[in-house]
Amino acid sequence: MIITKSRAEIEKMFKAGQLVAQVLQELKAMVEPGITTLELDNYAEHRIRSAGAIPTFKGYKGYPFSICTSVNEQVVHAFPSKRKLKEGDIISIDCGATLDGYVGDSAITVPVGKISDEAAKLLKVTEESLYRAIKMMVIGNRLSDISHAVQSYVEPFGYSVVRDFCGHGIGTAMHEEPQVPNYGLPGRGPRLREGFVLAIEPMVNMGTHKVRIEEDGWTVTTLDKKLSAHFEHTVAITADGPWILTQLVS
Ligand code: MF3
Ligand code: CO
Repeated sequence: MIITKSRAEIEKMFKAGQLVAQVLQELKAMVEPGITTLELDNYAEHRIRSAGAIPTFKGYKGYPFSICTSVNEQVVHAFPSKRKLKEGDIISIDCGATLDGYVGDSAITVPVGKISDEAAKLLKVTEESLYRAIKMMVIGNRLSDISHAVQSYVEPFGYSVVRDFCGHGIGTAMHEEPQVPNYGLPGRGPRLREGFVLAIEPMVNMGTHKVRIEEDGWTVTTLDKKLSAHFEHTVAITADGPWILTQLVS
C-alpha cells in the first residue's frame, strides 16, 4: 500500500529534507583531494545529530555509517573509510536524516578537483535524468512514467541504468512502497496521487548496467569497473506539481 501524506506531514518531511540538503551542501564544499571519506561521515553524523535529527542510515539493516560514499566504479552503499580522495575521482554522497519522525533522503555525485570531460558529462546527464523524472511527478501520471523518463534520457548517451536498485516511497520509514525503478515502459503501474512522497534516485553507469556486491555485503560496484553516478531527491506530489523537499531553499 502506498501511504499518502497530509500537508502537515509533507511540511515535516520538508524540514528533514532541508537538513539533508544543507548537510550535503556542506559535504560538497569539503570534498577535495586528500580528505578521507570517513572525515565526511564524521562531519555528517555530528551535523545531523546537533540539528536534533538522527542519521537514518546508521544501523539500518546493520549499515554501520551515517552516509554512503561511493567513489568512481562504486555505485552506491560504499562504506566511508580511511581512503583519501584524489584529484579526478568522482564521489557519490548519499545522506538520510530523520527529523521529528520523518525521513529525508538525497544523494549527489561531485567531482574531486578537476575531472575528465567524460566523467563530467556522466554527472551532468545523471543529474538531468533526475530532474526529467521529477517533472513526471504530477497527479494522474503513472509510476512508470518516472522510470521511463530516466531510461529514455540516459541510454542515447550510451550509458546504462542500474536495474538491481530502485527509488522508493518514503515517509516515517526510509523505504516504503512503491519501488521506483529507473527503467521501464511508460504508462504502467499505479496512478500518481496527491500526497505521495517518493525518493527518486537514478544510478547511471558508463558501461554495463550490471553490478556486483562486494565482500562487505554492502558496496555495490560496476561489473566492468567503469564509472557510475547517483543523484537522489525526496519529492512530494502536490496539487501544484512536484515539490522537491531535499532541494535547498535559502
Ligand atoms: N538512498 C539509499 C537508499 O534509499 C540509502 C540507503 S543506505 C542504507 O537505499 F545503508 F541505509 F541502506
Ligand atoms: Co534512497
